[in-house]
Amino acid sequence: MKKIEIDTAGARSKILVGESWEKAGTFLPGTGVIIISDDNVFRLYGDKFPPFPVFCIKPGESSKKLEVIELLAERLLGAAIDRSGFILAIGGGVVCDVAGFLASVYMRGVRCAYVSTTLLSQVDASTGGKNGVNLGNAKNIIGTFLQPEFVVCDPSMLMTLPDEEYFSGLAELIKTAVIGDEKLFRLIEDHYGEVLSRDRELLELLISMAIEYKASVVSEDERETGLRRVLNFGHTFGHAIEMYKSAKHGFAVASGMELAVSYSFNRGYIDASEKERIIALLKRFDLLRFHDIPDDQLYQYIVHDKKKTGSEIYFVFTSGIGRAFAEKVPVSEIFDFYRQNRKDR
Ligand SMILES: NC(=O)c1ccc[n+]([C@@H]2O[C@H](COP(=O)([O-])OP(=O)(O)OC[C@H]3O[C@@H](n4cnc5c(N)ncnc54)[C@H](O)[C@@H]3O)[C@@H](O)[C@H]2O)c1
Repeated sequence: MKKIEIDTAGARSKILVGESWEKAGTFLPGTGVIIISDDNVFRLYGDKFPPFPVFCIKPGESSKKLEVIELLAERLLGAAIDRSGFILAIGGGVVCDVAGFLASVYMRGVRCAYVSTTLLSQVDASTGGKNGVNLGNAKNIIGTFLQPEFVVCDPSMLMTLPDEEYFSGLAELIKTAVIGDEKLFRLIEDHYGEVLSRDRELLELLISMAIEYKASVVSEDERETGLRRVLNFGHTFGHAIEMYKSAKHGFAVASGMELAVSYSFNRGYIDASEKERIIALLKRFDLLRFHDIPDDQLYQYIVHDKKKTGSEIYFVFTSGIGRAFAEKVPVSEIFDFYRQNRKDR
């Protein structure tokens, strides 16, 4: 088991990688706890949940909306949860984003923690303290920062994940390797078979390496005023592909990364061999998808991107495996690049 800490101005969060999720109950207060989960996770693991009331949401991205927050808040009120209450999320990125946002606004804030049940949420969504919901087509546009008190990442829960969900998470793991950890990238390359077979020991190592990198970034720049922007690598085009194609987050980000790597190459930031190495790994795990977002739709997604300021947007480039930086780029240049690189059949 590995314990990783995130230290920010306002809070400290501990992430327990390899801890048994069934121990989560021992870290909770004795009363006032509400568990938020989704129907799938509850069906698989509900019989071993800590003994507190459970509110389930519908699985999937469609639950990330204000209406769901309102319904859950009404139920918290109905259960007489006051400011001393505690919300435990048991689920993937959607459950953690919804529960974290709810915890930050209900009665102006109650305590919270996560048991993170997907690869994507273990390597990314449940660490860092960002939460939020979508507004129509605009991703994560309503949200806050709130560090969960603890996050349990138990790789044994990943054995029940459908393949599509597992590979979606793998894309975010590769993203972390590309932007911050060449050794992690090499481990994924060298252990292709064990990654496919979800080798528990290897997963524990890969997940803890990814979280260590993210924790170091978030501890330095919780509010994304600088360094943290690099975590958005692949996400400018990725979010647009996710919303337009209704694609799984990780696959959309993988295609967004392919575009970002090519863009980095076009600008002379990365050499051809590194570019090919990154794209080869994405292809090897079959993470890339076709995308053909029409100009007017792309415009809608980009203008609503939180990384946009005026007519420019912070775009994340890589200068080699393990290195990334954000640079302001005119939105018009992003459009031109996409027009020349969209992957329609
Ligand atoms: N807050 C952040 O920093 C951050 C970072 C990255 C992504 N995200 C968000 O995370 C979301 C995607 O998260 P996700 O990919 O975990 O999706 P998800 O939460 O929808 O989970 C995917 C599916 O897997 C099921 N599932 C969950 N755990 C399971 C398990 N152990 N076994 C079997 N099935 C299981 C769920 O019911 C769901 O159907 C997106 O909304 C994205 O915006 C947030």
